[in-house]
Parts: sequence; C-alpha cells; structure tokens
Amino acid sequence: MKAMVCREYGTPEDLQLMDLPDPSPGPGEVVVGVRAAAVNFPDVLFISGGYQVKIPPPFAPGSEFAGEVLAVGDGVTYSPGARVSGSVMVGAFAEKVVLKADSLAPMPDGVDFADAAAFGVTYRTAYYALRSVAGVQRGDWVVVLGAAGGVGLAAVDLAVALGARVIAAASSAEKLALCRTRGAEATVDYDRENLRDRIKEITAGGARAVLDPVGGRYAEPALRALGRGGTFVTLGYAAGSIPSIPLNLVLLKAITVRGMEIRTFPVDRPDEAVRDNRELAQLFSSGAVRPYIGARFPLHEAGKALRHVADRKALGKVIIDVC
Ligand SMILES: NC(=O)c1ccc[n+]([C@@H]2O[C@H](COP(=O)([O-])OP(=O)(O)OC[C@H]3O[C@@H](n4cnc5c(N)ncnc54)[C@H](OP(=O)(O)O)[C@@H]3O)[C@@H](O)[C@H]2O)c1
Repeated sequence: MKAMVCREYGTPEDLQLMDLPDPSPGPGEVVVGVRAAAVNFPDVLFISGGYQVKIPPPFAPGSEFAGEVLAVGDGVTYSPGARVSGSVMVGAFAEKVVLKADSLAPMPDGVDFADAAAFGVTYRTAYYALRSVAGVQRGDWVVVLGAAGGVGLAAVDLAVALGARVIAAASSAEKLALCRTRGAEATVDYDRENLRDRIKEITAGGARAVLDPVGGRYAEPALRALGRGGTFVTLGYAAGSIPSIPLNLVLLKAITVRGMEIRTFPVDRPDEAVRDNRELAQLFSSGAVRPYIGARFPLHEAGKALRHVADRKALGKVIIDVC
C-alpha cells in the first residue's frame, strides 16, 4: 500500500510517498481502506518530534480517517464493505490502516467520507469541553479562540447547537466572516483589537466560558474577560507557547480553569463521555452540525496539507483524499 511516511523527525516537506507492506488484522482488529483522512494540528508536532507523546520514525502520520472495512480478525462483527470512521495515534495518511474494532464507529447514512473523517477528533474535543467541562447552557456567552481552526470551528458549530451565544476570536477578516456564517453572533480580530475590552463590551460584563485551543498571548486577555464564576478551558497551544496566568485573576472572580484532553477524558469521566458521544452522534446524523472543510489535498500532497495547517492558513478542517 502507499503511505506518506515520516522517515525521520522534520518538516512537512520531508514526508515521502512510499510503498509499505499491507497490514493484516489480528484478533479483534479491522483493516480499513482509507478513503479520506483529516489533518489535526498535532500531526505537525508528531512529525517534528515536538508532541508530548513521541512516535519513533519511520511512521505514517495521520490520526483520523473514514473508509471501508477490507478485512476483519477473529471476534469482529463488522462486515467487509461497511463504512466506518475512526481515530488512531498515527497511520491514517495511508491507503490502509489497521486498528481495534472498538476504535471504529459506523458512518451515519448520507454522510460522505470527508465529513466523517473531519468529524471525530475536533467535534469530540469541543463537545466534551462545552458540555461536560464548562457546562455551557442555552443563552450563555461563550468565547472561542482560534475560532476558524479545526477545534475552534467545531466549538462554534456545537455551541450554537447548544443555544449558546458565541464570540469568535481569530486573526483575519476572512476567518471571522466564516465564523459568522457558522453562527457566531459576534467576532473579535485578536491581532488587531483589544480582546479583553471587546469581549466585556459585547457581553456587557463578562463571558460565561472561554474555550482556548491556542494559548500564547491570547489566553490571558480572554480569561480576564470572563464574568464572575466563569470557566476557562485550556485545550492546546497552537500559538507555540504555554501561557502563565496570574492566579489572582482566578481568585478575584472565582474563576474555574480546567484542562480537557480527548484521550484521558473518557477514562477519567466515562459516564459523561458516553453521554456526550451519544448526543454528538445524534447531532451529526441529524445534520444539526457538520464540519467545515476548507481545503483538500491528494495523498501524495499530505506534506502540503500539513504545511497549510502549520502556516495558520487552514479554515476549518483540511482533508486528504486517499483513494
Ligand atoms: N485537548 C485536546 O484533546 C485536543 C484535541 C485536538 C486538538 N487539540 C489542540 O488544539 C489546538 C488546535 O488544533 P486544531 O487541529 O484545531 O488546529 P488548527 O486547525 O490549526 O487551529 C489552530 C488555530 O490556532 C491559531 N493560531 C494562533 N497562532 C498560531 C500559530 N503560531 N500557528 C498555528 N496556529 C496558530 C490559528 O488561528 P488564528 O490564525 O485565527 O489565530 C489556527 O486556526 C492544537 O494545539 C491541538 O494540539 C487539543
């Protein structure tokens, strides 16, 4: 099978299209013929060796995909041809991927491979954060940083679906216009406007929650614009630096700062994860929410797809069409 391979830690341009042996399924495993894979920011970090979990090269990056079941191991109930989506640590930028059957989800009818590939990671991240971690309710003001990115735009879509009022913060007029078409009520260009003042002005007193997948210099002004008792959810540091927050800000307004990580949340809070996954599947299959796909690349251009994300150019999700 063909795969885009990271042969040693480096840049997106260092990925190479290679022939690898076809995988075969062990007990409880499934081989999926990948039709579409989606890019996530951590893919860029994996190939540079800069992610918190290190995968020794060589490996094919890519952590989420959708496709068709090709072969199954003992004890698996999926049939060949079944349309499925799933996520892995790495390996999705390839024609075939092998994984445990319980890591797969059947694709809802009427959903195409690109949407199914784009849905899993960012929508689960955003929904756990909004629903279970921040406890967002109808009518709450929710600030989303990096709102036109993968996690960000999923958070906008889902917060709107939950009936929240969304302030989308991002770095360009084009990104903010996209957020408005996805239901954001107000927008702030955080590279040109004063983020804290604008949020306070819009909310007339402070937001109920901030979702932050960006970090860097954007986190503190957003936290300062929370209302009393508000919740700040830290999700990631796409800006490249981890902010230090003065704790007196947390004390003075009784703010809650919470972290949420998609791999550990279901382990730490299994009941809420099951409930959130069920609600999310319902929102997706009913068409109430849908990922926005801003760019598509063929498999052999997976490096360009990663570069697009690394250079802050992506709008919503970036898809790699595999077969
Ligand atoms: N906690 C979890 O479980 C979880 C799950 C998935 C992802 N994440 C994390 O969430 C973050 C976002 O992931 P994503 O897949 O949504 O990424 P993405 O689509 O690339 O979005 C990241 C956003 O960050 C902003 N940004 C600011 N400075 C940047 C810089 N120097 N380089 C790149 N982007 C910059 C960009 O928006 P502007 O240009 O508008 O500023 C961009 O849209 C990553 O740190 C990722 O590791 C966490």
